[in-house]
Amino acid sequence: MWRSSLVRALPTARAFSTAGIPRGAFAKLNDADVAHLRSVCKSVLTAPDEVAPFNSDWLNKYHGQSQLVLRPKTTQEVSEILKYCNEKKLAVVPQGGNTGLVGGSVPVHDEIILSLGNMNQVEAFDEVSGIIVCQAGCILENLDTYAGKHGYMMPLDLGAKGTCQIGGNAATNAGGLRLLRYGSLHGSILGIEAVLADGTIVDCLSTMRKDNTGYDLKQLFIGSEGTLGVITKLSVLTPPRSTAVNVALLGCESFDAVKAAFVQARQNLGEILSAVEFMDRQSLDMVMSQQPSLADPLESACPFYVLLETSGSNEAHDMEKLEAYLESVMEAGTVIDGTVAQDAAQAKKLFGIREDITLSLSSRGHVYKYDLSIPIDDYYKIVEDTRAALADHDAEVVAFGHLGDCNIHLNISTLKYNDAVQKALEPFLFEWTAKRRGSVSAEHGIGTHKPRFLHLSKTPDAIHMMRQMKQVFDPNGILNPYKVLP
Ligand code: FAD
Ligand code: MLT
Ligand code: ZN
Repeated sequence: MWRSSLVRALPTARAFSTAGIPRGAFAKLNDADVAHLRSVCKSVLTAPDEVAPFNSDWLNKYHGQSQLVLRPKTTQEVSEILKYCNEKKLAVVPQGGNTGLVGGSVPVHDEIILSLGNMNQVEAFDEVSGIIVCQAGCILENLDTYAGKHGYMMPLDLGAKGTCQIGGNAATNAGGLRLLRYGSLHGSILGIEAVLADGTIVDCLSTMRKDNTGYDLKQLFIGSEGTLGVITKLSVLTPPRSTAVNVALLGCESFDAVKAAFVQARQNLGEILSAVEFMDRQSLDMVMSQQPSLADPLESACPFYVLLETSGSNEAHDMEKLEAYLESVMEAGTVIDGTVAQDAAQAKKLFGIREDITLSLSSRGHVYKYDLSIPIDDYYKIVEDTRAALADHDAEVVAFGHLGDCNIHLNISTLKYNDAVQKALEPFLFEWTAKRRGSVSAEHGIGTHKPRFLHLSKTPDAIHMMRQMKQVFDPNGILNPYKVLP
């Protein structure tokens, strides 16, 4: 759960990964540019203290030196801004809720920040199909509340839902807690309106589920991290909201038992299974260390935990299935301890522990964050190998993630940034992942952190095609330069 009241204790800022990136041959912003941009966009920030928060990312790792934030309200404004910036060769970074974890949403140098937060209107909702059409700056949680009033829900859920925007979610192809059930945004997003670097408005804002009329252009913007166009509107298919939701936290003795609990959950719970999340004991300890009032959720301390959610429409039927599942995994010794939430408040609390890991890590000190796809048999091996590699360092290794999607969040925490730890982790972890044909970014994206490692998950031909696409969409390279492509 995203709790704005839990203020992050920010560690000393250190802009490490961007420090060596040379500035591209872009124009420098001048007074005439600012005057023109003011004439096309009403909301403009230039005061250093107002611009500052837009220059730093959520992790406080990446810091730009932009002098200008533009906050358009309409697609037309976005178009006029980009047309001008393209003609003048001024670089631009699109920014949503600025909750990205790979440094994609902040400038590397002095790029103009195009913040989408003022484009926050829902334009239409179809009660029959559950399709919502909205502007890109709508906050995910607000959309979920809106859909909820009509008996529907957003198909994605993540800890940053109170701040991240649907445009940012699309631009990063965010995964989150519900991907297991509702699939990726490549399936749920039915249409996109985007503005290209030269100001062209691309209207692919279909609200049809089926549309086989040639290349599906909207897919290119999903996961493009603001490098191909600025997403201004979206249509999203929202599923019906489940009326019966159960949450169980299970403790396991080994990672093999975690796998067995997952396999059996898929077999026994089938269509009602909606989330399977994983965390190790070190993750729970991390949250408890930052929230001393939090009690151990199970009677015994277990080395591994699985958080299960079922969502359906028949409370009695779902509970019967869940109880049968729990009985069988406990009897087999797969699960050694567990608890089932008795009401919505308890369910929220259990999910809150899982969602608070991120905030707890960044509150503790410096965090080295890796978001990897790893084949299930090696899912926890990477954690053990990392602990071995860091045996001589004072570093906590914490692992959690979307088990159902083979997506592990491997986090290393030190009280302060430590260069030796950084060097021990990279390229080691990315190469380890590539050897098993995993992905160096399961869901957070490439941003500024990983362009150097893209070749470990994409072939040279694929990277060449990506460059060609960038050239077609943004020939002057003004949109989110230095990100994604090496
Ligand atoms: P930003 O951070 O502002 O931007 C992210 C990228 O998208 C940047 O490259 C930016 O240039 C681009 N962008 C933003 N808006 C637009 C637009 N309208 N048009 C074009 N480009 C745009 N991610 C997951 O995938 N799963 C999770 O479970 C998850 N949990 C998180 C939990 C916490 C506590 C935090 C802090 C982050 C989490 N994230 C997660 C990462 C992050 O929240 C997601 O990547 C989210 O989708 C980013 O949305 P945003 O609006 O904050 O985008
Ligand atoms: C999560 O699943 O909690 C997020 O992706 C955030 C993170 O990896 O820290
Ligand atoms: Zn995640």
